[in-house]
Amino acid sequence: MIRYNHLNKFEIFLIVIAIYPGSFDPITLGHLDIIERGSRLFGIVIVAVLRNPNKTPLFTVQQRLEQISLSTQHLPNVEVDSFDGLTVGYAKMRGAQALLRGLRAISDFEVELQMAHTNKTLSTQIETVFLATSNEYSFLSSSVVREVARFGGSVDHLVPSHVALDIYQCYAQNHPVSNPIKTEVI
Ligand code: PNS
Repeated sequence: MIRYNHLNKFEIFLIVIAIYPGSFDPITLGHLDIIERGSRLFGIVIVAVLRNPNKTPLFTVQQRLEQISLSTQHLPNVEVDSFDGLTVGYAKMRGAQALLRGLRAISDFEVELQMAHTNKTLSTQIETVFLATSNEYSFLSSSVVREVARFGGSVDHLVPSHVALDIYQCYAQNHPVSNPIKTEVI
C-alpha cells in the first residue's frame, strides 16, 4: 500500500528510500522499534517480506503483510510489500538507496556483515544501514516468539496485540496438543 502519494516527483527524487527486508514471521516489537526509528531517518521505509518457498512459515505472506500494515498504520512514510529473489534486485527495482537492518548482539553481527558484504558485491550503489536494537528488545526474535507461543506462553509483551491474538488463534487451530492458554509472565 503506497502512502506517499502527497509527494510530487521532484520530492521523491530528493528523499532516501530504505528497504527493511525480512521474514517477519511474525513481526515483533523489536522489528517495530527498528521501523519506527528508521522512519525518522529515511524519507520512505519499505518493509519487504521475503516470499521464501524453502521455509514453512507460521503465517502466510498475505497474513504477514496485513499484520505489518496494521502495526505501522501510524507511520505515514512506511510502505509494506513482498518480494522474491535477491533483496538488492528488489531494492533497485524500487529505487531504494539503503537496506535497513537491526543488530541485536554479536551473534547477529557475523551473519549481518556477511549479508551486507554480499549485497555490496551485487550493487555498490546500495548501502546497508544497521540500527542497534533497543536494549529491551535485544533478546527478541520471531523464532523466540513462536517458541514461547508453541509451549503455551504469553507473547503479549513481545508482539503487537493484534499479532498476539493471531498467534494464539493459530496455535489453538494448528497445535491442539500444546497448551494454547496464555500464561502469565513469572
Ligand atoms: O528476517 P530474516 O529471515 O533475518 O531476513 C533475511 C533476509 C530476507 C533479509 C535475507 O535472507 C535476504 O535478503 N534474502 C533474499 C536473498 C538475498 O538477497 N540473498 C543475498 C544476501 S545473503
